[in-house]
Amino acid sequence: MRKPSTPDEDEIDAASLADRPVELLPKSALPYHPRVGDPLDLLVDLSVGVVLGRSESFHRKYHSGGLGTIGGVAESSDDILTTLMGMPVNLDLMSPHVMFVAGKRGSGKSYTLGIIAEELALAMERKEIEVAAVVVDTVDVFRQMVDPNDEQVDLLKKWNLEAKGFPVAVYIPRRTYVGLPDEVKKKARLFPLSIGPKELTVSDWGYVLEKGGTLSTTMENLIGETLDSIRKGYTLDSGEKMVLKRDFSIKDMIKCIEINPQINELYKPSTRTALIQRLKRADRLGVFHPGGTSAQDLAIAGQITVIDVAPLGSDAESVLAILTNMLCRQVLTYRMAWTDEGASAREELPPTWLIIDEAHTLVPRSGHTPAKDAIIGYAKLGRRFGCSLVLCTQQPSAVSDDAISQADIILSHSLSHDNDIRALQQRAPAVMPDQFRDKVFISSLPRGVALVFDQNTENKRGFIMQVRPRLSQHGGTDRLSGLFEAVRLLIPEDVEEEPEPDVVVEEAELEEKLGESEEEITEELLETPRPPLKLSKEDWKVLDGWMKDYIKTLFDQEKQDYDIIDEPAPRVEEPPPEAKPTSMEWDLERVPITELDVDQIRIRRFGPLSALLLGKAMTRQVLYSRASHDFLFNSEKDVRETLLVERDGVDPLEAIEDVTSGMISTGMILDELIHEHDFTFVCFRKDDLRAAFTVGISESQVSVPIVVIGGNKNAVGRLAGSIRSILPS
Ligand SMILES: Nc1ncnc2c1ncn2[C@@H]1O[C@H](COP(=O)(O)OP(=O)(O)OP(=O)(O)O)[C@@H](O)[C@H]1O
Ligand SMILES: [Mg+2]
Repeated sequence: MRKPSTPDEDEIDAASLADRPVELLPKSALPYHPRVGDPLDLLVDLSVGVVLGRSESFHRKYHSGGLGTIGGVAESSDDILTTLMGMPVNLDLMSPHVMFVAGKRGSGKSYTLGIIAEELALAMERKEIEVAAVVVDTVDVFRQMVDPNDEQVDLLKKWNLEAKGFPVAVYIPRRTYVGLPDEVKKKARLFPLSIGPKELTVSDWGYVLEKGGTLSTTMENLIGETLDSIRKGYTLDSGEKMVLKRDFSIKDMIKCIEINPQINELYKPSTRTALIQRLKRADRLGVFHPGGTSAQDLAIAGQITVIDVAPLGSDAESVLAILTNMLCRQVLTYRMAWTDEGASAREELPPTWLIIDEAHTLVPRSGHTPAKDAIIGYAKLGRRFGCSLVLCTQQPSAVSDDAISQADIILSHSLSHDNDIRALQQRAPAVMPDQFRDKVFISSLPRGVALVFDQNTENKRGFIMQVRPRLSQHGGTDRLSGLFEAVRLLIPEDVEEEPEPDVVVEEAELEEKLGESEEEITEELLETPRPPLKLSKEDWKVLDGWMKDYIKTLFDQEKQDYDIIDEPAPRVEEPPPEAKPTSMEWDLERVPITELDVDQIRIRRFGPLSALLLGKAMTRQVLYSRASHDFLFNSEKDVRETLLVERDGVDPLEAIEDVTSGMISTGMILDELIHEHDFTFVCFRKDDLRAAFTVGISESQVSVPIVVIGGNKNAVGRLAGSIRSILPS
């Protein structure tokens, strides 16, 4: 309860709050602020700044409640009376919106989406709104919202902000989830994501099973018939009846194709086999599972949920399309039911903000995806039922006009293609100054700067905004990305095998069996090498052991994928048979040196690999091999830079000599050679700085990744810069 106060105190409080003008952002926070000729006329509340997405009367009612500060006005003007330079820009989060965020690659779009998610979380913390926010992520950049943004502390200071992580819930594909240690799940706030096969229509299956194409009509018919048989039940030749199933797995579908006599009669074995193979592949993704995650699991009042399908790699798109379709339909249905039926259905699903990155893949202008109609429907109807949508794309011209035309707020970062600029101009819901129409202007907007257009008549023209720095971490490869990949490679694919169920099982019995299978999964997983992981830095070493296995598996897989003929390295001395290490032991030799004898260096030779893959694999080797890692990483505060020297058609020994003398000419001193298996790491140091490289070749391609590490960011940057200028990549 509020402390009783005298009327005087209340009046003073209210008056001082209302009169105190908002602080303008300092120029240092707005490095880019071009002069714009046209006068700027926006909805401004002097106590908060510019207000987006609200009418004046709506704002008068709620004042600062439910606003989120997303940036600052970054345009200067000759007219000191109308200039709003440095005014904070506040987005209305209280009423529903359809927002469209555009910008070319690397212009800051996803970062801006993260700002919107952060502001939703902050407004919920302040108890000003109660919504659900679901961010769908194909590229693994939103999950890191749990951690504070320690990388841009200086920038945050300029904005008078402090780094802060948010307790988001992160849903990752079930198979990846099952394979992770509990400690990791807890710390990274992970939850399993799955889609119930029963949710998919025949055309959805077509999209999943035939990437980038369409299934033949026969194959589609076969799927239709299979789904029908499972739902209605079917009879075997023996007379045994396979009863109706309310829920089923892909394995049930495969079984039906194999044993249903009706299907056997109608379809050729080759068609059946082809479909079974495709279904098995889809099953291996480990995301289709009876039960499935529903909108109620994901859209929870007061929570930011990130759906991270990046671990699915190239299959992420189709899975996400199906999931988004489901999510849009379910959210809308519940919200519509609320208005028709009173308050009860409302409790099932709160007003929801759906934030979709890389939207052109889900709602393309031409072509169809399982999510397209659902997203357009959500964009058209959602606002009436309290639901918001934020679509983001690097190609506005490739996104369905039906979706963009619904946007009431558009944020556009830099664009460089004519058709994308045109698409923006056609759709901007506010006046656009001539200057903004200039291709040179819009293509040269710096990263993090956006043109803002608001449909509200109070905000008469578009303006330039500097997006504020993130409080929480944005993207970047972290250890978890490595672990996700490790799980994909290390955990047996059939880990989710359910016990072969009798097709005739009652619902309760089935549930019991599924329960059992969970236990089996855990048992099976215990056998895979898994250290007691914590995500703390102290356990880095333990993680490294695991990473080493991962690297090995990765190499093995690449060997298969690219048919590598792994010739023995010419300079590898075979260890005497009795000294041969077991697979888990460590073959390591450290030799202190002051001068380099290239003949001592073990060069890893691969069969035919692309330069890109060779570079990536070799870089990972320097970073994650325990030997080089022990030498390079000394403390938690270490910062690193990675460089890659690539040469085509030169003698690898020459490349090694080149790189070594290049390193020495930067002032680094040779320290030691570390031989590990078929690799040698050449290590340098000087004061607090350490560096190491190793060499790999594939056909005529020589790849030399160099990692530079030290406690001082500037010193590491300077050293990396000199190496780059001496040894251009
Ligand atoms: N407003 C900002 N303030 C500070 N840094 C920013 C800002 N916006 C973007 N950045 C920096 O730019 C990088 C790239 O931004 P972001 O990932 O959002 O690009 P993108 O447009 O989504 O690119 P892509 O098309 O590749 O997905 C970020 O990692 C961040 O370091
Ligand atoms: Mg992005």
